[in-house]
Amino acid sequence: MSLDLAPFGPDFTWGVAHASYQVEGHHEADGKGPSIWDTFTHTPGKVRNGDTGDVACDHYQRYPLDLDLVRSLGFAAQRFSISWPRIVPIGRGFVNRAGLDHYSRVTDACLERGIEPWVTLYHWDLPQALQDAGGWANRSTVGRFADYAHAVAERLGDRVHHWIIFNEPSVFTSLGYLMGIHAPGLRSPRRFAAAVHHVNLAQAAGARGVRAAAPGSQVGTSHAISPIEPPGTSSRHERALHAAEALGHRMFLEPNFGLGYPTDAAPIVRLVERHQRGDDEHDIVVDWDFLGLQYYTKGKIRPAPIPGMRFVPSTNRDFRRHEITTMGWEVRPEGIYDALATLHRYGKVPRFVITENGVAIPDVLIDGRVRDHRRIDFFRSHLEHVARARADGIPVDGFFCWSLLDNLEWAEGYDQRFGLVHVDFDTQVRTPKDSALWFQGLLADSP
Ligand code: FCB
Repeated sequence: MSLDLAPFGPDFTWGVAHASYQVEGHHEADGKGPSIWDTFTHTPGKVRNGDTGDVACDHYQRYPLDLDLVRSLGFAAQRFSISWPRIVPIGRGFVNRAGLDHYSRVTDACLERGIEPWVTLYHWDLPQALQDAGGWANRSTVGRFADYAHAVAERLGDRVHHWIIFNEPSVFTSLGYLMGIHAPGLRSPRRFAAAVHHVNLAQAAGARGVRAAAPGSQVGTSHAISPIEPPGTSSRHERALHAAEALGHRMFLEPNFGLGYPTDAAPIVRLVERHQRGDDEHDIVVDWDFLGLQYYTKGKIRPAPIPGMRFVPSTNRDFRRHEITTMGWEVRPEGIYDALATLHRYGKVPRFVITENGVAIPDVLIDGRVRDHRRIDFFRSHLEHVARARADGIPVDGFFCWSLLDNLEWAEGYDQRFGLVHVDFDTQVRTPKDSALWFQGLLADSP
């Protein structure tokens, strides 16, 4: 059952991660403005069971107790996101001191417990007022984001030394602007293309904003990479694969690396590039201090005659050879190595951190205990591949579990439980699952 910690070394960061909308609740507290996720969850039919983040894990109030849990389990870092509309309620102009005060208290509460705060600036809860003006499809959102990033870093930068600008741009742009599954619920290739370019620009503008206000801090961003299995060997299959890789990660990584857009890979990438203006090609470049990798499963696609795209995601699952999670995702631990290798091959970033990895399975709470051995196996097998990456010289020096608590899994609502700690959403009682205790044992042995 045991995993050897020695290959990770003494400087490896062990943490847990969560995002504001998924855990906080108190969606109208202390002057907060509405976000696109408030609007989306309150729109009938968008989220499973009609679930909303109005209460969630009540973490906005219970954060001291939750951080006690983090410490008692032995984790050294907490990654949390800032809710933009708590800081800038209508996305521009007035900066809400009460919102900044809240995250300042959370930061202090981390530090008092010996937990390092890692702050994500954008984990999907855009102020609704900015969406009303077009959201990420509107170029002016880039400047608004840079102002917000600067305001947060100015307040927290004396204590927060690790910053993650965006969480998974490929996911929130495609699910939100192209597929309509996440907020803001659009299905518009045109607006998707604009949003992608503006988000890439905002990566750089946000990084500059943070560096100006908090010099010397470590600035990175978090990308989801699901290495794609070649769907076949024909040239049609190959073209579909190239298009899927471009949309999945390349068009989000490469402009920031100064490599431009991979326009040959799919016509829709050319649509994105068309939004480039003036000095964008230079302004978009970022020298990241680190990159976050978020890995859950491998990607599957099949060729399809969709204009501009050439592929569709495939939902085929191989039940014979792979375990399937309640999200319907295959458990493919070796993919975390492949995703790290993909990033490392660029030779552009000095170090990587796994900023999310975790699994939803059918947990049952019986007599105060959740025997989630499948989750333990999941983490152990993924960590073994992270250790292998280190042994092969890939500089990966941190791992954040998704997530400490069961929480609102976006459009899937509360049915999907990713936590190391079970949450009873009626009583807010927290119960560490066996996987939490496994980590506690593991981290107690750390060198
Ligand atoms: C990632 C998100 C995170 C969580 C996990 C399961 O894509 O970043 O908020 O929902 O998936």
